[in-house]
Amino acid sequence: MVAATGSSRDGWSSRSAFILAAVGSAVGLGNMWRFPAEAGANGGGAFVLFYIFCVVLIGLPVLLSETLIGRHGQASAPESVRKIAAESGRSSHWDTLASFGVLGAFLVLSFYCVVGGWVLYYIGVFVQDVFATGIAGGAFEGRPPEDIESLLPGLFSDGMLMVGLHAVFITITFYFVSRGVSSGIEWVATWLMPAFFVLFLAITVYGAFTGAFSEALTYLFTFDASKLTGEVMLAAVGQAFFSLSLGVAGMMTYGAYVGREVNLAGTSGIIAGADTAVALLAGLCIFPIVFAAGLEPNGGPGLMFQTLPIGFQSMPVGSLVGLLFFIMVFFAALTSSVSLMEAPTAWLKEKANIGRPLATLVVTIGALLLGILAALSFNSMADFQPLGFIPLFEGQGMFDVLDTVTSKVLMPVGAIMTALFVGWVAERRLIDSENGLTGGLEKFWLFLVRWLCPFALIIILVVGIFPSIL
Ligand code: PFF
Repeated sequence: MVAATGSSRDGWSSRSAFILAAVGSAVGLGNMWRFPAEAGANGGGAFVLFYIFCVVLIGLPVLLSETLIGRHGQASAPESVRKIAAESGRSSHWDTLASFGVLGAFLVLSFYCVVGGWVLYYIGVFVQDVFATGIAGGAFEGRPPEDIESLLPGLFSDGMLMVGLHAVFITITFYFVSRGVSSGIEWVATWLMPAFFVLFLAITVYGAFTGAFSEALTYLFTFDASKLTGEVMLAAVGQAFFSLSLGVAGMMTYGAYVGREVNLAGTSGIIAGADTAVALLAGLCIFPIVFAAGLEPNGGPGLMFQTLPIGFQSMPVGSLVGLLFFIMVFFAALTSSVSLMEAPTAWLKEKANIGRPLATLVVTIGALLLGILAALSFNSMADFQPLGFIPLFEGQGMFDVLDTVTSKVLMPVGAIMTALFVGWVAERRLIDSENGLTGGLEKFWLFLVRWLCPFALIIILVVGIFPSIL
């Protein structure tokens, strides 16, 4: 076990290990699957530029606040909040709000692993393709595009397969989290994140040379103010929060394993910068391939799983590149799912005073069962709409309910709470000693967490729940 603070507590072995783990948490399906799909569905450039604006002015200040709470508290998210509230002479009820974050991480984990299962399925599909047709030609040789497109609905209609893949993905996550911070989670991050970056850059360069790169550049970075509607802005903030792993106790939990010597402001900047760079590059990795095949960019969630595989068909060595692409997405998804599992595990371990393996097992079984309901909502349980009587969840099966409740309610509430807590509740002396900022920059950050972040996030929360306001 490696100590983060000089005690015998399990923690990151170095600053770079923390950076890799936190970047691993941030970079995931949100960047590779959700970001290009959201950018495509929300008109490209306007969404992208507003997204960058949100990362800098809302995401980054909240990210620093979360890691700061964790590092000062050196415990699970609710316990860290409780400690800081007590040291600041404030009510300990703030920890209840942090508990919603832990619940949020648990709920995201359950459906995130279902999507992780889809990634495993596509790895299997491309492995088969490599064996069937060799690597010389494009993917799925001789098969009509409709056939490739129907792979995803085919998977959705097979409840048992989806449940099985979800179980495999969550079991892999369990394996690493149960081994602990330094020998499990850190191991995953230090091996898989560099491998991810190598594959990612290679595929992006490949797309730049063989695909329609300049068309993708124009699409992603041409700012058309008329496209910047309220809905687009809302989608951009929500995406920024999901992508930076905010509002659900994940970064607070990781912050608790950071050593005192680490400058949190600078490190948060690196994490947010790397995450945003990957999201933008994911656009520049996927869209050139999509455009080169003459396909539509506004594919929504089907962009990565349906449109892109058709794109690989017309690319040289397409089946091998397709296989490497989905292996890379798997690495990104796994380094995120471990952080989602770690937040409730750290809390349960502490709350129930049990060992890590048992706490991880309980969390895994809970998320596995909930994820099974989410997986079956695409097929045999499509009619089960548990919260259908609430307008926000009308017509939604379990997968969509979990997505909506976390992205539209729990994440904004968690982030508002974090900003208000750091901005107004925690004692200044204590915040000053942790944030690594000085002078004007510190004042600006305080202004953002006190005013801009809560204000913007409250609007997001209200509009997200009552979309008819827009
Ligand atoms: N940031 C991850 C992604 O972009 O896929 C998702 C995520 C991980 C959200 C961890 C929240 C979290 F605590």
